[in-house]
Amino acid sequence: MMQQAFRASIFHCLRDPGPHADNAAVEYLEDGLLIVENGVVAKIGAASELLTGLAQDTQVEDWSGKLIVPGLIDCHVHYAQLDIIASAGEQLLDWLNRYAYPAEAKFENADHAREVAGVFLDELLRNGTTTALVFATVFPQSVDAIFEAAAERNMRLIAGKVLMDRMCPETLSDDAESGYADSKSLIERWHGKGRLGYAITPRFALTSSEEQLAAAGRLAREYPDTWVHTHLAENKEEVNQIAGQFAWSRSYLDVYDHFGLLRDRSMFAHCLYLDADDREMMAKKGGAAAFCPTSNLFLGSGLFDLQSMSEAGVRVGLATDVGGGTSLSLLQTMSEAYKVLHLRGQSLPASRALYLATLGAAEALGLDGCIGNLAPGKEADFAVLDAGGSTITARRARSAASIDELLFALIFLGDDRNIAATYLQGQRATN
Ligand code: GUN
Ligand code: ZN
Repeated sequence: MMQQAFRASIFHCLRDPGPHADNAAVEYLEDGLLIVENGVVAKIGAASELLTGLAQDTQVEDWSGKLIVPGLIDCHVHYAQLDIIASAGEQLLDWLNRYAYPAEAKFENADHAREVAGVFLDELLRNGTTTALVFATVFPQSVDAIFEAAAERNMRLIAGKVLMDRMCPETLSDDAESGYADSKSLIERWHGKGRLGYAITPRFALTSSEEQLAAAGRLAREYPDTWVHTHLAENKEEVNQIAGQFAWSRSYLDVYDHFGLLRDRSMFAHCLYLDADDREMMAKKGGAAAFCPTSNLFLGSGLFDLQSMSEAGVRVGLATDVGGGTSLSLLQTMSEAYKVLHLRGQSLPASRALYLATLGAAEALGLDGCIGNLAPGKEADFAVLDAGGSTITARRARSAASIDELLFALIFLGDDRNIAATYLQGQRATN
C-alpha cells in the first residue's frame, strides 16, 4: 500500500451550497491533512488529529499556508480552438465560419493534433483543471491525439469525434454512415480505458442531418454509459434557424430528445434560450447544462439563468468553452459567472462558484462517484491554490477576514499564477 499525506488548508463542497452559501454544504479545514492511499482519498481531517496515525514511512508534503481544493472540472471546451481564442468581432454563426472551422480543418494532420493536444492539456493542468469534457474535430485522428495525450498524463478526460454532415465546409463534413462507424470504433478503442470516456458529439442540430442525429441516437442507445455532448440554444439566430429546419419540433431541446440524445450523461453547452417545459424535460430525462459565461459574453450570446435551471432540478456545471470562451482558467470563468448572474439579479457566493466547477460539475457529468470533492474513496485529484501567486492576491489575502472572503478574492483576482501545483491521483502533474 502506498500512503501519501498533504498538509494545507483544505476547502471542498459536500453538496450544493445554493445561492445563500449554506455553510453546512462545505467543509473547511484551516490546518488540514489529506491522506491518499493508492491514488484515492483515504482520510481528510484536522492535521492535529490525523498526523499521529500516519504509517511510519509516510512523508508529509507540506503546503501549509496554501489552500487545497478539488481538481477543477471543465464541462465543455474545444481543444482544436486553442489557437483562435480571442478572435474578435462576430456572433456565433459568423464566428464559426470565419475562425472555428478553418482552425479545425488543420486537425486532419495528426502531427498538428498531437502538438496542440499536449499543449492544451498542460495548460489545463497549469490552471488546476484535472478533468474536462472536450470537443475534438470531425477527424478521428484528432480524437486519438487528445486521448493519447490524456492517457500519458493520467487525466480523467471525456472527448469525442465531432459529427457534422451539412451546412459546414465540405472539408469538415462527414456523413451519417461514416460518422456512426468512426464513432463506434473510437468508442471501442477508448471508452472506459483507464480514466478516459467517450462522448458522442453531434456539433449541433444545424450541422447534422436528421439521418445523422438518428445515427447518433442509435449510438447513445447502444452505449448507454457513454456521454452525449452538443450545443443547445446558445444564440438567437441559431435558435431561429433551428425552428426553420425542424419545423415539426416543439423546441430546440425537443429536436435532440426526438432522436434519443437527451438522456443521463447528456451535456448541453449554453442552454440560454430554454422555456419551462424544456427545463422540466431536461431535469426529468437526466440531461445537464454547461454554463459558459466567458463565451456567452464574448460572442454576445446572452445571460445564463442559473436560478431557473437549478430550481427546475437541472444539473449545471461550469465550462470555459475555449475558443468561444476567452480563458482556460476556471477561476476567471467563475468570476465571469458571478457577473453574468449579477446582471440577472442572482447571487453567486464563492462556495457555490467553486461547487459549479467541482462537485456540481462532477454531478452534471455523472462522475460524482469518483471525483468532485475530497471525500474518502474519491480519486485524489486536487489543486493547490496560492494567494501569494501575485502581488495583488497576496495583498488582498492579508485583509481577508474569512475563508469565504479569501476564496472570493482568489476567484476574482486569481489565474494560473495562483495554482501552485496540480495533482492527479496523488501524483504531481505540474512542475
Ligand atoms: N455551436 C456549434 N459549434 C460551436 C462552437 O464551436 N462553439 C460554440 N461556442 N458554439 C457552437
Ligand atoms: Zn462550444
